[in-house]
Amino acid sequence: MKTEIIKVDPENIDEKIMKYCGEKIREGKLVCFPTETVYGLGANALDEKAIEGIFTAKGRPQDNPLIVHIAGYDMLDDIVKTTQREEILLRKLSDRFWPGPLTLIVTKDESMSDVVTSGLNTVGVRYPSNSIAQTLINYANVPIAAPSANISGKPSPTKASHVIQDLTGKVDIIIDGGPCQVGLESTVLDIVSWPPIILRPGAVTQEDISEVVIEVSEHGWQKEVDKPRSPGMKYKHYAPNAKITIYKGEESKVASRIKEELKNANNLGLNAFVLASEETLCYYNKEKALSLGSRYNPLEQASRLYDCLRKFDELKADVVFAEAIENKGVGDAIMNRLYRAAGGRLISI
Ligand code: TXA
Ligand code: MG
Repeated sequence: MKTEIIKVDPENIDEKIMKYCGEKIREGKLVCFPTETVYGLGANALDEKAIEGIFTAKGRPQDNPLIVHIAGYDMLDDIVKTTQREEILLRKLSDRFWPGPLTLIVTKDESMSDVVTSGLNTVGVRYPSNSIAQTLINYANVPIAAPSANISGKPSPTKASHVIQDLTGKVDIIIDGGPCQVGLESTVLDIVSWPPIILRPGAVTQEDISEVVIEVSEHGWQKEVDKPRSPGMKYKHYAPNAKITIYKGEESKVASRIKEELKNANNLGLNAFVLASEETLCYYNKEKALSLGSRYNPLEQASRLYDCLRKFDELKADVVFAEAIENKGVGDAIMNRLYRAAGGRLISI
């Protein structure tokens, strides 16, 4: 398949180009586009055949449902059939967090294809805040189903170059709209259950949600890795080729342990790297360490994580020793992704 790569400036959107891309979605084509979280691989959510193409392009297991993206509340009618309680929660939460990085799991409308929802009677919906995403959905004039635009199992794409690397030849269009702001996938909140439950942590945190909903539970993502509730959480995810181990503890102790591990790895002839912070980079050989950003700026760290994971692949890293992030606010979502990338290897010192 020939893939068209089209640059669009998010500050000065070319309407003609976006109209063209929207028409392609309507024709059943696959279009990758930026959102504020990560790039998505989009298709018309009402076109079953187009949706099947998403699974093929990504190599995605059929039992992992897709999120449906909207750019206006009237689009919800085609997708959801909420109970009264869901309706109230949906209104409250969307008032506060939409457009933005929050996906809500609600009861689906029967007309919604089982291919999108993997046969579940619920559907994930999200109203992205990214202006290119909104313009695309508006021109398509249909809801767009879109998983992250990576090959299944790879880190999610936060730059167009990541999408180009993974999906050239497998999709019709890749819109290059610059880097994604948040850099981690949306928070997934199930509002069919009571109390609502966070299935995937993200930039909208449990504290944020509890300002709107009196009660919100978090299954606890460490448990989630063993006994997943959201189909997508059971797959090994976000993984680079290198074997990652996370070290948690007091800063200087972690640094000396990692330095010891580096020495051992070098003795074994392994290509070893460190994932550090701006503040702790000084402990290590600069050529062998990547900075995730400042410890005091979790939003910056979130936006860089997947790019760092992909860089380790480019550097042909065999092993990566990563410093843990504080499990607070967005830091919790970063740790969730890092923990999965490490296949659960976390050592407390
Ligand atoms: O930020 C995001 O959410 C990005 C951008 C493109 O919007 N999309 C994304 O999609 O991360 P994906 O497919 O990579 O992840 C969707 C997650 C999966 O873990 C999936 O299992 C879960 O949402 N999910 C979707 N529908 C669900 C449902 N009905 N019930 C439970 N989990 C659901
Ligand atoms: Mg994904």
